[in-house]
Amino acid sequence: MTIAQAPGKVILFGEHAVVYGRPAIAIPVQQVCATAEISQLPNAPSGQVFIQADDIALVKWLHEMNPDHPLARIINLTLQEIDISNFLPLKVKITSSIPIAAGLGSSAAISVSIARALTQHLGRPLSPEQVSSLAFEVEKLHHGTPSGIDNTVVAYNRPVYFVRGNPPECFSIGAPFTLLIADSGQASPTSIAVSKVRQQWESDPEGCEQLFDSIGEIADHARGLIKAGKISQLGPLMNKNQECLDALGVSSDLLDRLIQTALQAGAFGAKLSGAGLGGNMIALVNADCAADVQSALARAGATRRIRTEAKT
Ligand code: MEV
Repeated sequence: MTIAQAPGKVILFGEHAVVYGRPAIAIPVQQVCATAEISQLPNAPSGQVFIQADDIALVKWLHEMNPDHPLARIINLTLQEIDISNFLPLKVKITSSIPIAAGLGSSAAISVSIARALTQHLGRPLSPEQVSSLAFEVEKLHHGTPSGIDNTVVAYNRPVYFVRGNPPECFSIGAPFTLLIADSGQASPTSIAVSKVRQQWESDPEGCEQLFDSIGEIADHARGLIKAGKISQLGPLMNKNQECLDALGVSSDLLDRLIQTALQAGAFGAKLSGAGLGGNMIALVNADCAADVQSALARAGATRRIRTEAKT
């Protein structure tokens, strides 16, 4: 049996603006992951693949699936990439602890874990760059204009500074820092938030471009601070980034409440993370306030809290 895992992710700075060419920063989140398990299937013709994804109640042969299904797409793309069709029949079992439609990179992690497990099993492991570009093709099914940041941070499994269309810059974190990730419990597909921003950009291109510029400047400034280990200065930047996201219309009452709650309980900064309109928010904390912020978030309605350490 071959097993491969891929982490979740959070965007620290720059979501949405990154779709319009501005820089963004994301880190992997190891506390949640997608897992793909490949095993041999007896009594089936060669080259056949059976898929089991209990989380979405899917149990099917690959050749019976709609080729546009994201799971079918990543398996077919991966087999094409390594150019192997004549292999002993396989079962691909997929499980994930990453909440779906929550801004934590669930779709990218599923694709990355499958591409990695399949290619390792068939003796042709791929580089992070190759795995990332296969997953990127599948991200396009989820929303038409993905920037590519989700598949990149998940495939490289390192903090990345990302500008659409450029090779990612994996960078070192000068001093580790702690984030609390809190789930609003409101499922929010990325495609809906991305098209909402698109509509706003069409009706007010100048206003949106200014907001994207501000977000891009925040991400650039944050990269320098993170590299230099000047973590205490990141909080105000997170708050400024949140103001821009709010102005773009992708926050929600519940996200606002969680963000205010975290700040009042002692967090140094807080913002939504990912597409918004629901999903998760992140709060920057230290050892002194982490427990207080975590329980305040639970009382304010966060359905799930994850504590993660950002480090190189
Ligand atoms: C989603 O995690 C981040 C967005 O910026 C979309 C994208 O970059 O493709 C909202």
